[in-house]
Amino acid sequence: MDGMSSIVLGVSGGVAAYKAAFVLRAFTERGHHVRVVPTPGALHFVGAATFEALSGNPVTTDVWSDVPEVAHVRIGQDADLVVVAPATADLLARAAMGRADDLLTATLLTASCPVVFVPAMHTEMWLHPATQENVATLRRRGSVVLPPAVGRLTGPDSGPGRLPEPADIAALAMVVLEHGAAALAPDLTGRRVVISAGGTREPLDPVRYLGNRSSGKQGWALARVAAARGAEVVLVAANVDLPAPFGVRTVPVGSADELRAAVLAEAADSDVVVMAAAVADFRPATVAGSKLKKGSAAEPDSVALVRNPDVLAELVTKRGPGQLVVGFAAETGDDDADVLTHARAKLARKGCDLLVVNDVSGGRVFGRADNAAVVLAADGSATELPEGSKDAVAAGIWDVVGPRLP
Ligand code: CTP
Repeated sequence: MDGMSSIVLGVSGGVAAYKAAFVLRAFTERGHHVRVVPTPGALHFVGAATFEALSGNPVTTDVWSDVPEVAHVRIGQDADLVVVAPATADLLARAAMGRADDLLTATLLTASCPVVFVPAMHTEMWLHPATQENVATLRRRGSVVLPPAVGRLTGPDSGPGRLPEPADIAALAMVVLEHGAAALAPDLTGRRVVISAGGTREPLDPVRYLGNRSSGKQGWALARVAAARGAEVVLVAANVDLPAPFGVRTVPVGSADELRAAVLAEAADSDVVVMAAAVADFRPATVAGSKLKKGSAAEPDSVALVRNPDVLAELVTKRGPGQLVVGFAAETGDDDADVLTHARAKLARKGCDLLVVNDVSGGRVFGRADNAAVVLAADGSATELPEGSKDAVAAGIWDVVGPRLP
């Protein structure tokens, strides 16, 4: 997003409060003005000086400081976005009750902008009916309440309750800033989603491969946004060196054959399969068992290629009832036809339900932070997703997928 927005970062009193400092940095690095409003409990974990130094703004927790400024009203009124990270069980309860017993809850009552709660707590507290009802109440009123990530909690415990990584929180918050709370609606709750991402590598010998320029970032964004919208996500990752988004389960693969096996196995009981990976169409016909040396008898003067299986087409033939299969197409226009004409033909050829079309004329998209796409559907409809972050494009893709799920 261009331009500077005013973000309130609320921090409540859980041990994950230390991660709020990194969320704050991610916001200021994007050029936004950030006002941190901790609860008194949060300051047991991170000192006010840390938040003041990183935000360049004063930090108070109560409504009795800066009285002439009427801070408890102004801060909420002036905000373009409020993010509460971490949101403890107690904070969620007080917000759901509409209390105003500290500066953060007062701010929540005066903010008319989108609000994102990022819960972090022990699994028992998260699953308790009281917390679940508070979450439902806040969502019904239009706030985003992200599901907690699954993973290591404080001490030896592990389960849902972990604060997602600051980079994930920041990326998702930016989607809400640009597109509003609806972009992270919990509409994929209970759905199982399989996403392939990255680019396959087809070995020539033990050290060399044929590869492609896919960075995996669009698949990562799809996984991050799907998890934020409540889905259980499996990410089949072909050669992507990025941390798992939102703590989702990743299955690392190398070649197209490995990707095919992993995707077909994971797809069996899933609601949606998204083939965002750049799968090599060809692989070397033979793979040398030892490194090909120059000048040796084995030095090749050409590489013979054979076709790889088309995973997307196979998914279509094997798809279960109600299962949605989504393909990607990186297309360029040529003398015969424009990008969308080629893409419509590909959609028909592959037989998938949706095809996300990227125009890659002139080297666009690969490795870049931003993207733009058109989602073509088998029923003939086309949804244009304007240029935006890959997370924003991901949210647009899930907007098309969500209503098509049975
Ligand atoms: N794909 C696949 N298996 C392959 C090749 C591609 O599953 N062996 C999937 C990709 O993940 C993507 C879609 O198919 O979702 C489109 O890939 P693309 O390579 O553009 O399609 P092709 O059928 O190879 O089209 P073209 O005729 O342009 O080569």
